[in-house]
Amino acid sequence: MTNFVKRPTRPGGRSTSSGGWPKATAPRIKEMLRVDHAGEYAAVAIYDAQAKVFGRSPKTRQIAKQLAHMRDEEQEHLDAFDDLLRANNTRPTALIGLWKFASTGLGTITALMGEKAAHACTEAVENVIEQHYASQIEETKDSHPELCATFTKFREDELRHRDTAIAHGAKQAPAYPLLTKVITAGCKTAIKLSEKI
Ligand SMILES: [Fe+2]
Ligand SMILES: [Fe+2]
Repeated sequence: MTNFVKRPTRPGGRSTSSGGWPKATAPRIKEMLRVDHAGEYAAVAIYDAQAKVFGRSPKTRQIAKQLAHMRDEEQEHLDAFDDLLRANNTRPTALIGLWKFASTGLGTITALMGEKAAHACTEAVENVIEQHYASQIEETKDSHPELCATFTKFREDELRHRDTAIAHGAKQAPAYPLLTKVITAGCKTAIKLSEKI
């Protein structure tokens, strides 16, 4: 089994499970941590932007609240990967600024298109993320059970986000097929780039 440090106990950052930094977390594990950190960072930015747009009107207060709750759950995921990056001596993607810009833009535009478009965005993003976690679960289930358990827990949250979006009319969004296609392609490209860069 390759060296890997599970999420350390905050504060302090250092893992208590191995008594210090791992000498060599496997490159593939580093890729996984880096891309997952980027994905959660983007998810926080998308939901935050959408919640802000909807939060401006009392008529859309309900969806603003729902999106803010999802943002808070994504923030918990992001915090976990922040810790894991630190504990495994792994840098975040160099593209983090670009993802912040793109995700905020995506969240803002889809929210301005209306509630159903915002839900369609959630469905598309969460679909890609849950599939991504599913493949990481398969890849780590034997070699890194603790990491696999984290992926499994987060995937369940993403599935719940996706199902909530569908239940609230994602598929009735204007230009749903195009919107879904563009967002899905964007997410898949971002995943590929964030693993390596
Ligand atoms: Fe997440
Ligand atoms: Fe999510």
